[in-house]
Amino acid sequence: MTARATAVAHSNIALIKYWGKRDTAIALPATSSLSLTLDAYLTRTTVEWGAESDSVVLDGSRLNGEAESRVTRFLDLVRRLGDRSDHATVVSHNSVPTAAGLASSASGFAALAAAATAAARIDLTPRDLSILARKGSGSAARSVFGGLAVWHAGTDDASSFAEPIVDPGLDLAMVVAVVDAGTKTISSRAAMQLTAETSPYYPAWVESSRTDFTDMLDAVARADFTRVGELTESNAMRMHASMLGATPPVSYWQPDSVRVLQLVRDLRVSGTECYATMDAGPNVKILCRRTHLDTVRDAVAALDIAGVTTSLPGPGVAVSQAET
Ligand code: PMV
Repeated sequence: MTARATAVAHSNIALIKYWGKRDTAIALPATSSLSLTLDAYLTRTTVEWGAESDSVVLDGSRLNGEAESRVTRFLDLVRRLGDRSDHATVVSHNSVPTAAGLASSASGFAALAAAATAAARIDLTPRDLSILARKGSGSAARSVFGGLAVWHAGTDDASSFAEPIVDPGLDLAMVVAVVDAGTKTISSRAAMQLTAETSPYYPAWVESSRTDFTDMLDAVARADFTRVGELTESNAMRMHASMLGATPPVSYWQPDSVRVLQLVRDLRVSGTECYATMDAGPNVKILCRRTHLDTVRDAVAALDIAGVTTSLPGPGVAVSQAET
């Protein structure tokens, strides 16, 4: 008898970043992080158990090598949870360019965790689903939830989970300045490990990010958009500074990334309050209020870069169909 389910998850962009693990074996982060789930980018994944071997098709192409093993290792966790030994057929579609620093692994592993467990009839609480998703990709823990979510670093497997936090009317929106939608040169997983192992700035990053996280919780609770934006931008710049200190140095920036960062500063000077953040890729995400979304989008479009997308806060993961 087959067991099949489909789940949809949206990507998230961290306003306070996760960069570095304290335990690689179970994906415990060094610091807590806070993110905004976006409605613009999603992954839809169908998992069907009962196969002879695992197979994964992403956007029409069969995965192999490390990309496939990553999914298979994740399915091993689900097999263990559900006490089953059969295999799964996984078919996934990303509306996000894969591995371009647009959080495709966040939406990808959140959707996979939800679909694989629903198909296996393993009933998890949202918290336990985020703990499971975390083991596929750290940031996926946060994509289980919509809007603003925090991922508590925790001290062991059970205490490292994400949960939603109340947005007291910040009216957040995001413009994604797509500089290059191609695959990144070094994975976030490898780059954060290199940073943690070799950058003399890494301890300072961990220390300052801890402070940023508590300051951010306070700014969100006070609905202080300016402070939320300032912390968002400085936290991202410090994360990238820590990477530049690695041996060899890691830089995801391209010339157009710098042009967008300059534009964000110019927009602020001219009264459009917005702030930039960047992840493991050259694209720049611009946090603004919903009322400024069109102004910021038009200004980015005028730079004539690869693309521009606007986004509002998105929903948490949803299982859209389950059958056994
Ligand atoms: O979830 P991972 O392993 O792809 O790491 C995500 C790292 C950043 O996107 C750079 C930061 C974050 O918190 O999402």
